[in-house]
Order: sequence, then C-alpha cells, then structure tokens
Amino acid sequence: MLSISVKEFLFWKKLQLSKGGDHQSLALLLDSVGGISNGDLNSLHINPEGNLYLKKNLEFLESVWNEHLLKSHPIQYLCGIAFWRDLKLEVTDKVLIPRPETELIVDIVTKIFGKNSQKLFFAELGTGSGAISIALALAYPLSDGVATDIDQDALEIATKNFIKSSKQSNLKFYCGNWWSPLENFKGKIDLAISNPPYIPKDTYEKLPKEVKNFEPKVALLGGEDGLKHIREIIQKAPLFLKEKGWLILENHFDQGEKVKQLLIKNKFTSIEILKDLSGIGRFTIGRYK
Ligand SMILES: C[S@@+](CC[C@H](N)C(=O)[O-])C[C@H]1O[C@@H](n2cnc3c(N)ncnc32)[C@H](O)[C@@H]1O
Repeated sequence: MLSISVKEFLFWKKLQLSKGGDHQSLALLLDSVGGISNGDLNSLHINPEGNLYLKKNLEFLESVWNEHLLKSHPIQYLCGIAFWRDLKLEVTDKVLIPRPETELIVDIVTKIFGKNSQKLFFAELGTGSGAISIALALAYPLSDGVATDIDQDALEIATKNFIKSSKQSNLKFYCGNWWSPLENFKGKIDLAISNPPYIPKDTYEKLPKEVKNFEPKVALLGGEDGLKHIREIIQKAPLFLKEKGWLILENHFDQGEKVKQLLIKNKFTSIEILKDLSGIGRFTIGRYK
C-alpha cells in the first residue's frame, strides 16, 4: 500500500477529470485498481489534512486513465470489472459489458413471479458475463437455472462470476447454439430470458469505436436486419417452454413491434412491449399459449 496525502490525491483526481471522461469511470478505476472505494472517496473531504492508501501509484492509475481517454478503451475492460445491479462482475473482451438498461430484466421477472419464494426453472440464452442469470439465481434461491453461450471463454467468465457472487449451486452453464445445449430440458422451462445480439449489420458498421473496436462482434451483430437470432430463439421456444411459460427478450430500440409479430406468429399470448428508463420499447415479453 502506498500512502499519499488527501490534498495531493484530490488535486490529481481533478486533473484527470479535466482531461475528459466521467466521474463514474474514474470511480471504477480507483475502486478496482487503486483500492479506494466510493465510500472512501466520499469521506475524503471530511479529513483533507489526512493521508490515504493506494494499491497502485498515481502514475500507474494515470496511465490506465489515459489509455481509456485516448483510445476509447472501455474502463471496464481496462480494470477487468463491471458493476451491474448489486453485482461486481469480472469482464474481459470476450464478454459484452453488461448494460444498465438490461438490469430491468430482473425487475420484469420479479413483477411476473413475485419475490424469492418461487421455485422456478429458468434458462438464459447468451449469458455473456452471467449477469442476468446470476442475479436471478440469487433472487430466487429455491430455483434452478441454466445459462448458455456459444463462446466457451464467455462461459468460463460467467462461471467464475457465479462462484464469486454466490455460495449456491443453483445455476449451471452450457456451451452451444441458443437452445441446442438444452435438449434435456424440453418442455420443462418456466421462464426463458435472452438479450441476444440484435444490432442490424449497417448499424453495427457505424457503432461508436468504444463498442465496435473492443466488444465482441458475436455479442452484438444480429444479421442483416438485426432479428436473425431473435427469430431463431422465438421459433424454437415452444419446444422448451412449459405451457404458459414466459419468454423475455431484450431488443433494439425499434424492434419491439416486429418481435411482437414474431411472438404472435409462434402462438404466444399475453404479449407486451416494455419500456426502459429512456422510454424505449426495449423488452418484448410473452407466454407460450
Ligand atoms: C448481447 S450479449 C448479452 C450478454 C449478457 N446476457 C448481457 O445481457 O450482458 C449476447 C450474448 O449471446 C452470445 N451468443 C451469440 N450468438 C450465440 C448463439 N448462436 N448461441 C448462443 N449464444 C450466442 C454472445 O456470445 C453473447 O455473450
């Protein structure tokens, strides 16, 4: 641990923010690499004459911050950490950085099934860092979940994240294309969730460089119209869901109506397009018959 004066640290912090970036990203760097939590940061002003202890020196922290600013390298990848709901998740460039809007999926599930007493069998398709499945496994400790991904490296990260976040063993991970690793669970699933790759090809080409240059293409690109994977997931869902089982999908900002039509075509009922906090129809949900 390195000791420096609070005054020197606060001066350094102000200087870093004057170069660009936001408070939240700098706080993530200070917490995950510097060893200074948000709570520590907030209490510094109480004792400006004191000292604080850092895990890495200011030169090192500044070099990471400069890399973030100059190359648009996401701070989560540089630090290897993303905060999502109340989880602290390991992330590498093999997984999508879990987004704040996706946090609402857990609230949608809670609205449908109530809080924690339910014994559900849920499946998440395309789990990435494991964020959604881990949050559900923790919220519903009596339930069992299965989570899939096409990418074995992503599954290894999701597995580590689950082990770090929970002492339970109610979540299992499987590698393969969408439903295919779940053949043994046909007709048994109460709830399936997916935030699949849904960016249309021409939009993908124009994504900001912090996304396009760093996040996995396999996690973002949804074919020509963005609906390639959503179509496949909906078409096969009736084989795997129980009667009246729920499917919850995240989609691109303008896809809600098309996803709704796909659900209707595949005999889903109780279909709704739900908005995210920006008022965008971000989630489309339905029940199989
Ligand atoms: C948009 S990311 C979502 C990750 C995570 N669930 C989240 O919400 O942060 C989509 C995920 O689907 C996975 N994926 C892409 N194609 C797949 C396929 N054919 N079968 C299974 N998973 C796939 C990607 O590897 C990626 O982890």
